[in-house]
Amino acid sequence: MGRLEQHLSNFNNTISEQIKNNRDISVVTHIDCDGLTSGAIITKALIRAGAKISVHTTKEMNSTIIKNLQSDSHDFHIITDLGGGFAKQIGEALGQNWFIIDHHEIPQEEHDNDSVINAWKYGINGGIEICAGGMAFLAAKALDKRNSDLASIAVVSALGDRQDQGERKSFLGKNLEIVEEAKTNGSLKVDMDLLLVGRETRALVDALAFTSQPFIEGLTWNRDASLALFKSAGIELKDGGRWRTPSDLTEEEKRIIIESITKFASNQNASQIMEELIGHTYTFPVEEPRSFLRDAREFSTMLNSCGRIGRSGVGIAICMGDRNKILQEGENILLEYRKLIRDYMNILTNERWRISDSAKCVMVNGEGIIPETMSGTISSLLAGSPKNAGKIIILRTNGEENTIKFSSRKSTGCKTELNLSTLMKSGAEKFNGIGGGHDAAAGAKITKDKLDGFLDYLEDNVNGNINQN
Ligand code: C5P
Repeated sequence: MGRLEQHLSNFNNTISEQIKNNRDISVVTHIDCDGLTSGAIITKALIRAGAKISVHTTKEMNSTIIKNLQSDSHDFHIITDLGGGFAKQIGEALGQNWFIIDHHEIPQEEHDNDSVINAWKYGINGGIEICAGGMAFLAAKALDKRNSDLASIAVVSALGDRQDQGERKSFLGKNLEIVEEAKTNGSLKVDMDLLLVGRETRALVDALAFTSQPFIEGLTWNRDASLALFKSAGIELKDGGRWRTPSDLTEEEKRIIIESITKFASNQNASQIMEELIGHTYTFPVEEPRSFLRDAREFSTMLNSCGRIGRSGVGIAICMGDRNKILQEGENILLEYRKLIRDYMNILTNERWRISDSAKCVMVNGEGIIPETMSGTISSLLAGSPKNAGKIIILRTNGEENTIKFSSRKSTGCKTELNLSTLMKSGAEKFNGIGGGHDAAAGAKITKDKLDGFLDYLEDNVNGNINQN
């Protein structure tokens, strides 16, 4: 038995014991797509196993949260998609009564902690081969093989964390195995298709205009240009009274659209645009056609929106299988989220003083406008814009209690050797803050009084040639 299997079996034994003794279990998870999916997978598996359980979400792990875990009424805690770097503190607060299921890089000493079930411990790259949803899925299957039907939710989690980094947006490593499992149990269909956002739900013109990966200068975020392209290509935009969506397109229509986009982008890097525009799509045939749950990428966007605008419960309920009335709520959340993103991006475009652009980095000041929970979304969007290609994006905004939240991303084509996780973690630590994440996407939080020092640190390490540590 490998080390991962051993630890999963230990997870099964410990949790089964907890359930047998009727102990009260709490799941604490992160608010993003990977957090909601991993939390939902574990919660569902535990409910099926007869556990007494409740689930909570938080936007981060910190010492206040750990104190709350210590003083709440639950006997056992399972923390998903959170907690890397906090194992010692959590152990001091909760004794043996906890597990972390995660994929974020962790310090070496946590590799030896039996309560930590983290991809990196088992030689799995948690950045691209599996995320917390995938790890939770493995743990759920260790509890009962029948939880294999949750594979589709694990696929959503991997898409939410943009782990579709194989050729043509395929998956790598463990994620690929999870995709195969979901295909085998009939819940997933994988195709090669046009990668327009809102495949099942958005009118064609919007789907093309709001697709920002690839970013097509003149077309992306320009509805008029998108409309003109469809008109001149002779594509019907409506089917009777209903707006057609990308999923309605015939193969011939797709061919025509690809040709039109190629022509439109002929003075840009057309071959790269095409490379990004066609790739693997992941569809759940059991979901209603034209529902935002049918395309797995749209599903993941909906979950991200739930968490980002403070409606995590709706996302978790949907992942656990709730449908009917809750779907309308999910749809409203998605619309609200899209509107907020448009508003924030417009403000950043209009208020140029908020952006300071250098050869290697774009620093963005979102203070006073972008809520902390949306900082990751906006920095990811900025990282997808060709204007910022090759650079590091660092967005900052206000956090709670006089803190400043930083969200950093490597943009498309960014070749720097700088590891953003190390940059954010060591930097934050120098200024008594908290930071971490992945090579290409990381965050940090410091108190406001340390802002100038932290900005100088970033300037030195990103634009200067100082090595981190
Ligand atoms: O907050 P943001 O979206 O910028 O974070 C990027 C990535 O870094 C996420 O995966 C997040 O979970 C991770 N992160 C972390 N520790 C922090 C801040 C962010 O692991 N203190």
